[in-house]
Amino acid sequence: TTERTLVLVKPDGVSRGLTGAILARVEAKGYRLAALEQLTPSRELLAEHYAEHEGKPFYEPLLEFMASGPVVAAVFEGERVIEGFRSLAGATDPTAAAPGTIRGDFGRDWGLKVQQNLVHGSDSPESAAREIGIWFSR
Ligand code: CMP
Repeated sequence: TTERTLVLVKPDGVSRGLTGAILARVEAKGYRLAALEQLTPSRELLAEHYAEHEGKPFYEPLLEFMASGPVVAAVFEGERVIEGFRSLAGATDPTAAAPGTIRGDFGRDWGLKVQQNLVHGSDSPESAAREIGIWFSR
């Protein structure tokens, strides 16, 4: 069945000028770009998005990083796009992510408290619906 997923190009991806290269890979894979916006997210928006991570050691650095500059939010659509995008993105840790993936090709460890790993992708249809509601509600 056709799914939708929320893709974020995080502040590291946007500031490094990788937005186009990242979105191009997702489009080239065959997924349809259904919505697109750029914004610097508020802490309120980020607290909703990352509610499941509250209390973890990287939570505060994560919110600070994500609020530090523009983020590009996109909705992509297609058969099994949730799994497909996560495969394109690669492992959470950019040092370990396989070459050929977005994180493996463009990311690295910068010695910071938060993993700056360029992109986010929803992990289930339930998360996708929730996250799309948060980022595309205005
Ligand atoms: P994301 O998929 O957006 O969801 C939570 C984010 O927290 C994750 O990507 C990383 O940017 C960051 N993160 C996850 N695990 C860790 C960790 N162990 N240390 C630092 N940052 C992390």
